[in-house]
Amino acid sequence: MAETTANTMWGGRFQGGPDAIMEAINASIGFDRRLAAQDIAGSRAHAAMLAAQGIIDASDAEAIREGLLTVLSEIEGGSFVFSTALEDIHMNVEARLKALIGEPAGRLHTARSRNDQVATDFRLWVRDRIDDAEAALSALMRACLAQAEAGADWVMPGFTHLQTAQPVTWGHHMMAYVEMFARDRARFRDARTRLNECPLGAAALAGTSFPIDRQATAEALGFDRPMANSLDAVSSRDFALEFLSAAAISAVHLSRLSEELVIWSSAQFRFVSMSDRFSTGSSIMPQKKNPDAAELIRAKIGRILGATVALFTVMKGLPLAYSKDMQEDKEQVFDAADNYLLSLAAMEGMISDLTAQPDALRAAASSGFSTATDLADWLVRELGLPFREAHHVTGALVARAEAKGCDLPDLSLEEMQAEHTGITEAVYTVLGVDNSVASRTSYGGTAPDQVRAQIARWKDALG
Ligand code: ARG
Repeated sequence: MAETTANTMWGGRFQGGPDAIMEAINASIGFDRRLAAQDIAGSRAHAAMLAAQGIIDASDAEAIREGLLTVLSEIEGGSFVFSTALEDIHMNVEARLKALIGEPAGRLHTARSRNDQVATDFRLWVRDRIDDAEAALSALMRACLAQAEAGADWVMPGFTHLQTAQPVTWGHHMMAYVEMFARDRARFRDARTRLNECPLGAAALAGTSFPIDRQATAEALGFDRPMANSLDAVSSRDFALEFLSAAAISAVHLSRLSEELVIWSSAQFRFVSMSDRFSTGSSIMPQKKNPDAAELIRAKIGRILGATVALFTVMKGLPLAYSKDMQEDKEQVFDAADNYLLSLAAMEGMISDLTAQPDALRAAASSGFSTATDLADWLVRELGLPFREAHHVTGALVARAEAKGCDLPDLSLEEMQAEHTGITEAVYTVLGVDNSVASRTSYGGTAPDQVRAQIARWKDALG
């Protein structure tokens, strides 16, 4: 076996270096390099604070600051050489800083530990993704809103059990998703508030004997305040669990909308047509236009929820404070965040490009006895029937129409009266789909006026 040398960061206690397998299982640089910008921001805030508190010299702090900026530009420019032997992003950055500025680099790690460092970096990274998610959700809500506005009164079938239930409007259906995405956005906002406390200065687990100013580093990094308990600060990952949970719930909403797009764009429905920009063809069947993006978004919940379950499982049962298990948090969150944000962008593109087909929507809404409830309600309102009896009479009329192979409005008055003598010509007004939707004026109902009021409210809110 090749000679190995002791790690320069903690070599004092070690005679030799790690086995190659140990290095492979231990190193996180393959993925935590994504925390580079956050790591350097944290180090800059820490060094400035150490100098302000007289813990390190101002000249050392200045050398550290300049050195860190060089490291950052090397990383951003792609010239930085990452080393697995240096394990993680924190030690890679520090080792390069040492090579650049020499001795002062060794003072940067005063009054901190990789434990509070990684907790800080990761919070900053997740906070950025929360901000990305919020912006992407707002854009998606605007796209749904534009669809709703275009078709606020386009009648379409509303389904329960995927069976025609009652007519609704396209605008109403689109606005249902605006409500869902708004709650998703609020969930991220809530999570951000709890996340936004700074672990830096908790050091390894117990705090430090140096006279640090945690308020200053918290402020410099845009946190609301320092975390109040050092054990909690280094060992909590509930901010990541909340992020994943919020992403998983939102991915469920995206998946449901995707499923609708898949159904609606099929030849059997033809409710919508997807743009070429968000469809694919088939290599063998020339007629095909496949909704691949919708299908992929529908599937993404699998890995996003998988990541969520994975991190819950990693965290359960860990004693306080830091354990290396927690290094397994990052890949899950990175993968979930990447795929969630990609899904949001793809959904926004699909919805913006989507062409709904009002004629097909209307034709579908008019079939399937969709106004049967309106007929039953009319019998209650006009003839004073108990609802149960009205339900029965309507059921008999549906059975007649079905036997005849026609829809409810196609039954003659005589046929209607055969089931109840009190029925008059006036019944036909409630059997039309436009009257049906227009009558659903209760708050939150599908009447176009209600839908337009909700659209106006959201247009205001979204700016
Ligand atoms: N790479 C580590 C992580 O992601 C950084 C913290 C290491 N701390 C330690 N005590 N070994 O969690």
